[in-house]
Amino acid sequence: MSDIHAQKILVLDFGSQTTQLIARRVREARVYCEIHPCTMPLTEIKAYAPRGIILSGGPASVYADDAPSVDAGIFDFGVPVLGICYGMQIITHLMGGVVAPGAKREYGPAKLSLQETVGPFRESDPVELLQVWMSHGDRIEEMPAGFAALAQTDNSPVAAMGDTSRRIYGVQFHPEVAHTPQGAAMLAAFVLGECGCNPIWTMHNFAEATIADFQKCLAGEKVICALSGGVDSSVVAVLLHKAIGENLTSIFVDNGVLRAGEVSEVAGLFRDVFGLNLVVVDAADTFLERLQGVTDPEEKRRIIGHTFIEVFEAEAKKIGQVQYLAQGTLYPDVIESVSFKGPSAVIKSHHNVGGLPEQMKLQLVEPLRELFKDECREVGRELGLPESIVSRQPFPGPGLAIRIMGEVTRARLKTLREADAIVQEEMRAEELYTKVWQSFAVLVPVKTVGVMGDERTYEDVAALRIVDSVDAMTADWTRVPYAVLAKISSRIINEVQGINRVVLDISSKPPSTIEWE
Ligand code: XMP
Repeated sequence: MSDIHAQKILVLDFGSQTTQLIARRVREARVYCEIHPCTMPLTEIKAYAPRGIILSGGPASVYADDAPSVDAGIFDFGVPVLGICYGMQIITHLMGGVVAPGAKREYGPAKLSLQETVGPFRESDPVELLQVWMSHGDRIEEMPAGFAALAQTDNSPVAAMGDTSRRIYGVQFHPEVAHTPQGAAMLAAFVLGECGCNPIWTMHNFAEATIADFQKCLAGEKVICALSGGVDSSVVAVLLHKAIGENLTSIFVDNGVLRAGEVSEVAGLFRDVFGLNLVVVDAADTFLERLQGVTDPEEKRRIIGHTFIEVFEAEAKKIGQVQYLAQGTLYPDVIESVSFKGPSAVIKSHHNVGGLPEQMKLQLVEPLRELFKDECREVGRELGLPESIVSRQPFPGPGLAIRIMGEVTRARLKTLREADAIVQEEMRAEELYTKVWQSFAVLVPVKTVGVMGDERTYEDVAALRIVDSVDAMTADWTRVPYAVLAKISSRIINEVQGINRVVLDISSKPPSTIEWE
């Protein structure tokens, strides 16, 4: 795209669970990088022109029949290579060394003593014993010719190795994980010092470069964007607005299942403060009519998804001559391959406004395709978006409809909105809102008996769902202090008509999910 991508690192993936973390650490060192499968052909690697290559870990053993490998041509390519765990073993195997099963598996923390401060260790303190995280069965028995041991642990005589003349390095431990406290600095030393990249991948530069690119390639074009008020679509809308101004039309659909105050907040901010060309479509009646009598979760999702596309298409037609649709797709959705076995089959089906481009024959504009979520947030801050948007918790497309068990009615929506607003208020007041992944209320229309004053009540139950997560793939319920839970519960029961009992969801994902439907 532009200069900020000129100096880049290629991360070749051998199927490790922590490959994405390697890319994150490289980006944190302000160097651009991409993850590709280890099967990437050498010609493509050359064409990609990386300043350095990092080989990830992986679950296999280099001697297994279907062990993933890489074209050994990368070693003659003249750029530094760093192999991590399996990556180090594959270097050894391909270059004529010997990898063998260790006497015992080494898993967990280990103390690393350094012999040479070169490669990833060029900034490390030679006398300090470094804490590192190990997770391997095989180990290096014999290094390939030209290599010297750079570090050792009690269990691994060759915990790191290097051939300084060819600038090829291997580490047996995982520098990318938080359990290796100096790991980020080691990866930074490799990409900045050894590979000679400049730290130019900043979100300030990214925003500037993206805006400049769009000014060129989208000049005179009409673009539409579905704005949800979530951080991703907000960042997309503001980036494009800065690039093409009035030629961007952002469409915000009130589907009737949004949270309290959301429509006025989003409209006020983006139209009045940011000056966006914003169309707010009040389609609540259509959505709610179609949801009448529907209790099946998948059916709710289907109806909302289809209706959204219909409403959105109708608005786009009114604008006319639109050729582009802007979407907030992020890098984790793009990474084709989490394993060397090829593109992963499932890319989240509920992502954004899936289905639109095919039906409308629109080309996609996805300015955030290269970014991780926290990078997207940083861009948002660069663009002057308020913290209330930038640090927003995820909110599902089908909205409150999948947080009301059973039928979605206006009355139930009102009840849930009020309860949910209290959860948000209290989480923010306690400064917990941004520390957790999501915190919300669920309406369980099961009536239970209560007593208020001298009156017997017979009302619905609200459940609190508050979870910690890093990527929504797994999650655990947050151990929120009792005092906070007590306050939320008492406020909901006292202030929200129709709820006389609050319960706490203490299920992890898996086997439960974050949302209830
Ligand atoms: P689950 O409930 O599957 O949710 O554990 C994982 C994450 O995805 C969000 N989610 C959705 N997001 N459209 C979205 O844009 C949807 O249909 C949808 N369903 C779930 C959920 O809030 C959580 O963060």
